[in-house]
Amino acid sequence: MRPAPRRSYGRAELEHNGNGRLFSGVPERFRAWASHGDLVHALPDGFHRTAGTRQARIAAFESPERRLYGLQFHPEVVHTEHGAAILRNFAFEVCGARGGWSPRSHAERTIAAIRAQVGDGQVVCGASGGVDSTVTAMLVHRAIGERLHCIFVDNGVLRKDEAESVRSSFEEALGIPLQVVDARERFLTRLKGVRSPERKRKIIGREFIRVFEEASRELPDVRFLAQGTLYPDVIESVSVKGPSAVIKSHHNVGGLPKRMRLKLIEPLRELFKDEVRVLGRQLGAPDGLVGRHPFPGPGLAVRMLGTVEKDGLDVLREADAILEEEIRSAGCYDRIWQAFVVLLPLRTVGVMGDARTYERVAVIRAVESRDGMTADWAALPHELLVRVSNRITGEVRGVNRVVLDITSKPPGTIEWE
Ligand code: XMP
Repeated sequence: MRPAPRRSYGRAELEHNGNGRLFSGVPERFRAWASHGDLVHALPDGFHRTAGTRQARIAAFESPERRLYGLQFHPEVVHTEHGAAILRNFAFEVCGARGGWSPRSHAERTIAAIRAQVGDGQVVCGASGGVDSTVTAMLVHRAIGERLHCIFVDNGVLRKDEAESVRSSFEEALGIPLQVVDARERFLTRLKGVRSPERKRKIIGREFIRVFEEASRELPDVRFLAQGTLYPDVIESVSVKGPSAVIKSHHNVGGLPKRMRLKLIEPLRELFKDEVRVLGRQLGAPDGLVGRHPFPGPGLAVRMLGTVEKDGLDVLREADAILEEEIRSAGCYDRIWQAFVVLLPLRTVGVMGDARTYERVAVIRAVESRDGMTADWAALPHELLVRVSNRITGEVRGVNRVVLDITSKPPGTIEWE
């Protein structure tokens, strides 16, 4: 393997030669998703080539006798056609898996495991209103009832009306009590003047720990922390096996367990978001909660480029609420992985009536994805874009220009920071 003359990101046309066990039942040519900077020049002894692309003659090889298989593309991402078939061939044909997983059996097993782990202990859970922490709370609540204590931290970088809507969903729809901690001032004070994306993420993560720790000190003898860590969080923020660079520091409650001497309960650690949604539906979570677009822990702070201050956050919240409302009323919400507004630290010249304006730029970011690991920008209907643009420039004071982000992941990430 050597560095490739041209790095390969995004779509590649793959052709397999019919000799690969992993490609059984897969059409000879198909589209695959590549993201790498190395080229395989020669096969190791005992291996044969099974597929290639125009840029990379050897994009897959295998040695069935030694049960070793190599692919230089991503079969696990939704943008690779027949990726699931390739993985199924590996799991069923090579590993001899039987495929007995179902959301119901997973839920039952997980609830029983939580009950066994916790015994008669108390559990605290940081609830955000997102599908991950909600499904986590539901599983733990099923397992141990009122010995679960859910805490929601209002960090001042939430979307419009979010704190109230999460409280009512938990208490009214799910019957799980929720303690809401208003820490808006604290977070905004810490974020004052900070521009660096990584520093914003770290500050919010650290402050969250402090606030959460203070709130849980009031609780009776808690020994466990439940959190909705997903498999992609595990892969993207720690190197599981092998060198997968830290792309962004993910905000989950990383430092808490050690500091508070808590044992972790992470019932979603091996699941992807779409599986969590299936599990949530199985547990009877309302569609509004299960289908909610993901929202990052550092919230609007990573969608407001440059420094984070209250006025800008209000502008961003209004623009974002308009986008969400229009996407819902156009019937596009459920087919999109995520849609949100990013506010740029730039002003541009415009004209309104007879007057010159000099105001901010709002970006529409909408992507399709299955797990957030890769994504394509979503082609929103033209009329929807027209309405969103007119409403944002007309109704949100402080924005006079709306632009559209047409970058896939890779090479971009979904969030701008
Ligand atoms: P990126 O921007 O890395 O995002 O392409 C992938 C997915 O993860 C979400 N995201 C986060 N979620 N804590 C979270 O819980 C975080 O710190 C965080 N950062 C990004 C992002 O919204 C997208 O769905």
